[in-house]
Amino acid sequence: MARFIVSGGCPLHGSLRISGAKNAALPILAACLLSDAEIVLADCPDLKDVENMLSILSALGVTWRREGGLLRIDAAAADNFVMPHRISKELRSSIFTLGPLLGRFQKAVCTYPGGCEIGHRPIDLHLKGLSMLGVEITEEHGQIICDGRNMKGAEIHLDYPSVGATENIIMGAVRTQGETLIHNAAREPEIVDLQNFLCAMGFRVSGAGTSDVRIEGTQERAKNVEHTVIPDRIVAGTMLCAAAVSGGDLTLSNVKPEHMASIISKLREAGCMVLSGEHSVYLKAPERLNEIKIIETLPYPGFPTDMQAQFFALCTMAEGTSVVVENVFESRFKHAAELARMGAVFTQKDRTTIIRGVKRLTGTQVYARDLRGGAALTIAGLAALGETTVMNAELIDRGYERMERMLTSIGARIRREED
Ligand code: UD1
Repeated sequence: MARFIVSGGCPLHGSLRISGAKNAALPILAACLLSDAEIVLADCPDLKDVENMLSILSALGVTWRREGGLLRIDAAAADNFVMPHRISKELRSSIFTLGPLLGRFQKAVCTYPGGCEIGHRPIDLHLKGLSMLGVEITEEHGQIICDGRNMKGAEIHLDYPSVGATENIIMGAVRTQGETLIHNAAREPEIVDLQNFLCAMGFRVSGAGTSDVRIEGTQERAKNVEHTVIPDRIVAGTMLCAAAVSGGDLTLSNVKPEHMASIISKLREAGCMVLSGEHSVYLKAPERLNEIKIIETLPYPGFPTDMQAQFFALCTMAEGTSVVVENVFESRFKHAAELARMGAVFTQKDRTTIIRGVKRLTGTQVYARDLRGGAALTIAGLAALGETTVMNAELIDRGYERMERMLTSIGARIRREED
């Protein structure tokens, strides 16, 4: 068990380089199963979730090694289509291997995936999409058994633009005979990155970033590929929130501001000065943050649910009343009760929270219940009076490369303790 001890009241100053995006790296790693050529990934973040995905790949027969900043992956010897039960339970993204395994072996066996407790997170859209590609799916003793011997391209209309389902269907379709069209596809930048990676391998995917994605199945062997993972817009947004609540200023490099438009717009609404360059963002916090009239989480290009908790923390100390509506996951407000222990004032009904900002939160012991909620509590601690202890900080490691080091390098007083 790890915990962060945060001393509040230090304005953050300086600059940070942002790492590659977890949510781009995870499906890309799964997609490596589609290839028996050499794959080199740059900027693949060194995180708990990535480590778990690499363990899953190892169990499937894939070898890999980190070399400096590069990750070299060789899936030529992959020979197993049964996903390891224990690790799959820890990582929701384990489900991403389903499409690639079907593409490669026409067979796959998995269990229901685990991950952060932020709602039910069913996988019905993944399974429905794959069954429309002709996969026969049965369940036995809690295992999902997929037979893809009769897979064929299809026209699929997603009931909801699920990020994971869109990615899984794309990966299932690239080696499947015929053309697949996905309508109402999710439009997240991470899906565009997956498309770019697959195309570099020689597969034929187009339309990612729009609601209609087209895949032309091919049986050609995948080519060697070198790919740089896109920057993590959520890590970048989290660091900007940290600088904003601390009253500091921060420059981020290796970012794509165009992926962060909704985040930047809300930071400006809170009174921050935000300037963006081609690959950089600069933020200067105001003396006191303003209320944000409404933050409603939505699929991209709407405001990301993965930034809701961090902005929730920001609103607890902004002047005036802010409203936060969580539309994507039904129980993603676990950080709220912890922030209340620090003096946050709000009322909550169903998916809506009305927050009345207080001048200052007070440090105390709080519990991270999920990855982004844990990041939000750390941010709150940076601005709180006295010391905040964030328990279960290992959850934060799932999505941030040693967040405490990142924050220390820009002037935060934060240390990590482990049992
Ligand atoms: C991805 C991100 C996660 C982010 C989320 C929404 C990765 C590794 N994770 O998760 O960080 O919070 O997008 O931006 O990229 N749903 C169903 N049935 C399904 C699939 C999803 O009902 O089969 C529902 C979910 O319960 C949720 C909503 O759809 O309410 C969005 O989920 P989805 O877009 O699939 O998110 P993930 O791919 O799990």
